[in-house]
Amino acid sequence: MSIIVFGSINMDLVAQTSRLPKAGETVLGNNFFTVPGGKGANQAVAAAKLGVKTYLIGRVGGDIFGEELLENLRLLEVNIDGVLIDSNINSGTAIITVEEEGENSIIVIPGANGNLDDSDVQRLEPILANATALLLQLEVPLSPIQTVANLAKKAGITVILDPAPAPDRLPDDLYPLIDIITPNETEAARLVGFPINNEEAAEKAAQIFLNWGVKTAIIKLGSKGAFYATKNQSGFIPPFPVKAINTVAAGDAFNGVMAAALDRGLSLVEALNWGAIAGALTTTKMGAQTALPNLEEVTNYLSQFIMNNQ
Ligand code: RIB
Repeated sequence: MSIIVFGSINMDLVAQTSRLPKAGETVLGNNFFTVPGGKGANQAVAAAKLGVKTYLIGRVGGDIFGEELLENLRLLEVNIDGVLIDSNINSGTAIITVEEEGENSIIVIPGANGNLDDSDVQRLEPILANATALLLQLEVPLSPIQTVANLAKKAGITVILDPAPAPDRLPDDLYPLIDIITPNETEAARLVGFPINNEEAAEKAAQIFLNWGVKTAIIKLGSKGAFYATKNQSGFIPPFPVKAINTVAAGDAFNGVMAAALDRGLSLVEALNWGAIAGALTTTKMGAQTALPNLEEVTNYLSQFIMNNQ
């Protein structure tokens, strides 16, 4: 079958520095590079690298970044027939700083992503029938997101929402359209209104998402693993140890690979383990799409992990 991603495509402008400057301060960085990113495109690449047919619906600008972004997606075998070149505007960009410990902070300038509207949804309708999942994030306007989520729900496709970047509140009628929601601790905290600083808080947040109408809530806890809950089951996905140098796109790897694993017929818990491994492996390399693992890397890591823990 196949996966559809409706979302953002950015060029990431990445600065590496030993520490972030305080307000009004200048610090020297030690490296700068540009690399294809955007939460939508990253999730599409993560799924495609797992060998699943993946369609991306979105927009790039009529600039040189747009050409580079499309060429990269083509090379990585993401179907981009549904990506529009919006020649009146620049492509989306993300200004990213990565500190020595691998933590990052990101400012996204939406550019063409901000122009997505219900007309873009038309490019998704013909491919819905053969899809198993629709992946959404919040770097494009909410109105077309609600439209596609409604369409996918009617078509019986699994709707996966990564609520990133998280607003203070999402429309109440969006939650019942979501099969799987995947906030990290910060995003979950914004949406439920209390800090997620221990396991109990993660469980409580997950329960709130279920009460709001979501079928499966997954709270991504970074290096501490993830908590998941459905009406009938819940539990922790363990952290998978790696030497992290850069956390950019780890969450995207989780979502893309989890969706691909579900498409390949794995159970929810198996898919969550694959997603968590992909997220961990992504932190071991620099960049966004350049850091995403392929099928062999995920399965090799899993076999090694099982052997080491027998
Ligand atoms: O999730 C990581 C992504 O967030 C980056 O690639 C950047 O483009 C921003 O969208």
